[in-house]
Amino acid sequence: SVIREISGISAMEENLQRKLGIQKVIIVSGNCDESPWVKTELGRAAANRMKSNLTGENIIAVTGGSTIAAVADMLTPVDISQSCLFVPARGGIGEDVKNQANSICAAMADRTESKHRVLYIPDQVSQEMYESIIKEREISEVLKLIKSASMVLHGIGDAITMAERRKSSSEDLAKIKSEKAEGEAFGYYFNQKGEVVHKVQTIGLQLKDLSAIPHVIAVAGGKTKAKAIAAYMKQAPQSTVLVTDEGAAKSLLEG
Ligand code: G3H
Repeated sequence: SVIREISGISAMEENLQRKLGIQKVIIVSGNCDESPWVKTELGRAAANRMKSNLTGENIIAVTGGSTIAAVADMLTPVDISQSCLFVPARGGIGEDVKNQANSICAAMADRTESKHRVLYIPDQVSQEMYESIIKEREISEVLKLIKSASMVLHGIGDAITMAERRKSSSEDLAKIKSEKAEGEAFGYYFNQKGEVVHKVQTIGLQLKDLSAIPHVIAVAGGKTKAKAIAAYMKQAPQSTVLVTDEGAAKSLLEG
């Protein structure tokens, strides 16, 4: 629109897209660290992007977090020619209920008048639990759906914030700090160079699965998340569309 051109947002989107080496960047005005309604706008922009990517049948894998929860709030019923199935990208018990991927999937299905599946397992599992749980029929079915997703919608977190919020063990927290992790996504912690310095054993979508998914939408804003976004974007598939805000974008362009 004219307003976006005058305010220079369109130019920022192009510059940032080139800098991060991804498919597209969508920037909303403001900084969600300071103004809560900016998160609502991130949700609106991501919901629009998501809807424009829908085809006949869609399997949409979603992660947890308050930003993705904001996307759910902005969704509206899909066209009758389209069907959506929402699946959590991974088990997520351990977070606040409203921020868990399971709850967000249920809310998205409700908003769009479509279906969802759940994965009621902890976010972090032991090797033994991992091996036995993936054999459960219910779980293996959902895992198959996750791996065949046509779209993934995910958040990016600040490494320390996420490690603390997920009540990581003191050893893990110390490792995340000493390895200078900056960003977190899908249970992987990335340093400034985009190297994985820590990984939580999770059941569900793994980083290597992303390249097979046609539409990848990352939603993260706020100046305080700029370093986290930069770190993760070094690893992100080229097909990624980033929905962010001016607060994060300005800082990313300066950095
Ligand atoms: O994985 C990271 C989280 O999705 C980020 O959570 O949206 O509440 O900041 P947040």
